[in-house]
Amino acid sequence: MTFTTEPILLAIESSCDDTSAAVLKGREVLSNVVQTQLIHENFGGVVPELASREHQQYIVAVVDKALAMANIEKKELDAIAYTRGPGLLGSLLVGASFAKSLALALDIPLIDVNHMQAHILAHFIHDPQKKQPNFPFLSLTVSGGHTQLVKVTDFFDLTLLGETLDDAVGECFDKSAKLLGFDYPGGPQIDKRAQVGNSSAFDFGLPKVDLLNFSFSGLKTGISRVIQKGILSDPHFIEKNCNDLCASIQGAILKILEDKLLKAVQQTGIKEIVLSGGVAANSGLRNRLKELSAIHQLTIHLPPFEYCTDNAAMIGVVGVLKYQNGLVTSDGVSADARYDLTNL
Ligand code: KG4
Ligand code: ZN
Repeated sequence: MTFTTEPILLAIESSCDDTSAAVLKGREVLSNVVQTQLIHENFGGVVPELASREHQQYIVAVVDKALAMANIEKKELDAIAYTRGPGLLGSLLVGASFAKSLALALDIPLIDVNHMQAHILAHFIHDPQKKQPNFPFLSLTVSGGHTQLVKVTDFFDLTLLGETLDDAVGECFDKSAKLLGFDYPGGPQIDKRAQVGNSSAFDFGLPKVDLLNFSFSGLKTGISRVIQKGILSDPHFIEKNCNDLCASIQGAILKILEDKLLKAVQQTGIKEIVLSGGVAANSGLRNRLKELSAIHQLTIHLPPFEYCTDNAAMIGVVGVLKYQNGLVTSDGVSADARYDLTNL
C-alpha cells in the first residue's frame, strides 16, 4: 500500500433513509450524490425493513454516479470510508458490506466512521468561502435521530456533554408536523410556515431537564393536547391557525436548544459554536444563533445546507482525516447501531 497525504477516497453513508456516496481528494469534495428514499413518505416515518431494501437497490447506482461525477475510476481510489454507526442496523449493514467488499477487491484500506462525528466534522470540508472552527469548540448536533451537545477538543477527541433523554429534535419537528397533516419529514414545512406565523400564539409548556440533557417528548404531548382541544371547538382549527401553530412549535423547540447551549457556554467557557445535523438547515435556528452571537459574543459556524442532512461527503472528510492519521480499520469492524462518541 502506498500512502499519500491527499488521498482519493470513496465514502458511503447508509445509516438511515438516504443512500449516499461521495468522492473526495483530500478534504475537497469532488462529488456527493444523495438518493433520498421517498417510499417512507407513505408511512409517516422511516420503516427500517424498507430502508435496508432500498439501500440495496440504490447503492451500486449511487456509487457509480459519484465516481462518474468526480471523473475518478475505481483503480484510482486510495481508500474507502463507510458509516459504522449509529443508525439502523439493517441499513448500516448494506453500506458496510458494500464498502468492505470493494476495499477487499481493490486491496485498499477501509475506514469506519462515526455518523455523529461526521455531522460535526462536516465543517472541515474544504470550502474557500467558509472559516473553519478553532478548537476547542462546542457542537450543537441536531438531527432526526439525535440531539447532542459535544465538546470538541480535536478531530478525534469529542466529549458528550448532554443529549436527549427521549425524542430527538428532528423527530419532534416531524411528529408535530404529522399532527398538522404534513408529509414526512415535515421539519422543513414547519420551518417555512413559521416564518409567517406568530411564535407567541400558543403555549405548550416547556420541560425541566437536569444538566445539559434535553427532552422533547413532553413538548410533543403538549402540542398534541393543544391541537386536540382546538379541533374539538373548531374542526377547521388547524387550517385557520397553521402558521401560528408552526411558529409556536418552532419557537418552543428553539427555546429548549438555546437554553442548553447557553448553559454549556457558561459551564465550559467555550464561545466557539458549531451547528451540525439535519435540523441545522432550520432557518429560525440559524437566525437565532446569529442573534445570540451578537448578544453573548459567540463565534457561530453554520454548515452549508448540502452538508446539514445526511450525506457521504461528511463521512468522507472524517475518512480522510483518519487516513492521514493512520486510523484505518481492521477487517473485523462492521456496522454498530449504537456506536457512540465515547468509543471513537
Ligand atoms: O441529519 P439528518 O438528515 O438525519 C439524521 O441523521 O437523523 O436529519 C433529518 C432531520 C429530519 O427530522 C428533518 O425534518 C429535519 O432534519 N430537518 C429540518 C429542516 N430540514 C431538515 N427540521 C426543521 N427545519 C428544517 N429546515
Ligand atoms: Zn444524520
